[in-house]
Amino acid sequence: MTSMSWKTRRSIPAPQGDRVHVELSGPPQTMLDMVYAKALDADSDRPILGDTYAKKLISQVDYDPRTSPITKQRRRQVSSITVRGAQFDIWVREFLQTHERAVVLHLGCGLDSRVFRVDPGPGVEWFDVDFPDVIALREQFYPTRDRYHLVAASVTDPAWLDDIPTDRPVLLLAEGVSMYLQERDGVALLRRVVERFPAGELQLDFWSRFGTKAMRKNNTVVRWSGSTLGWSVDGPEDILRAVPGVRVVKAISIFDAETAQRLPRGLRRFTRVASHTPVLRKLVGLHRYAF
Ligand SMILES: C[S@@+](CC[C@H](N)C(=O)[O-])C[C@H]1O[C@@H](n2cnc3c(N)ncnc32)[C@H](O)[C@@H]1O
Repeated sequence: MTSMSWKTRRSIPAPQGDRVHVELSGPPQTMLDMVYAKALDADSDRPILGDTYAKKLISQVDYDPRTSPITKQRRRQVSSITVRGAQFDIWVREFLQTHERAVVLHLGCGLDSRVFRVDPGPGVEWFDVDFPDVIALREQFYPTRDRYHLVAASVTDPAWLDDIPTDRPVLLLAEGVSMYLQERDGVALLRRVVERFPAGELQLDFWSRFGTKAMRKNNTVVRWSGSTLGWSVDGPEDILRAVPGVRVVKAISIFDAETAQRLPRGLRRFTRVASHTPVLRKLVGLHRYAF
């Protein structure tokens, strides 16, 4: 995703014994990569996200990350994934602090443990949404909890939204997902949510047009998984134009995320330089809109 580098002192052990076999194709493959990055972070001396669920999950999967073409690349990119994940955790908590009764739509959740990390209060109905094979996998790794729901569907299918209660504010959160959608489908999804709920927030990350081109060419994860990249956003004006009724709460470069301060000194220096280099600054945006 970026040229940030990462060194881990320890490594996740190779799989042994009875592990859950994982066979996925297309965009869902990318989520294992996310989990592995989070597991490496959790195993490092100074974690940024500290996702111990990811570490446990990787130890239960019949999948050797050390030989995967996907995760070879990710070793260099762990920091961008964990900085982003930790920043969204902060934003989700901020939203839930001011909206004790809310619906959370965690779209393209993959195998992310956010609902357990954030541990929302009793007024929150939390929906994790992803393709059916991903949801089936989640069920093998994570326990159930009250007011926590799994939705096995494409996020762009309008039908699943019909079953979601609309009597309270909504938080739509999609991390590492927008780029795998076609622009018209992504925009239609945001519009549907804004039209349907009384109020709420949209929290998403986007790759710029330049970033998308670079990923198409150079990103092993994208190429290996055979994913098509269809939606690039250069700045919040793209969303303001496309989705009536929303206003910007925050739109920052990943290099300006407050969680980038948790990086080791060398990488912090790199993020400061990247933040002042226009083409890099725009590569990955973390956006937050209210309506
Ligand atoms: C890069 S992973 C990110 C997973 C998770 N959000 C995280 O940060 O760990 C992308 C996820 O988006 C999901 N995804 C992509 N397109 C989707 C769609 N149309 N409907 C549902 N899920 C989708 C994939 O299955 C995958 O789990």
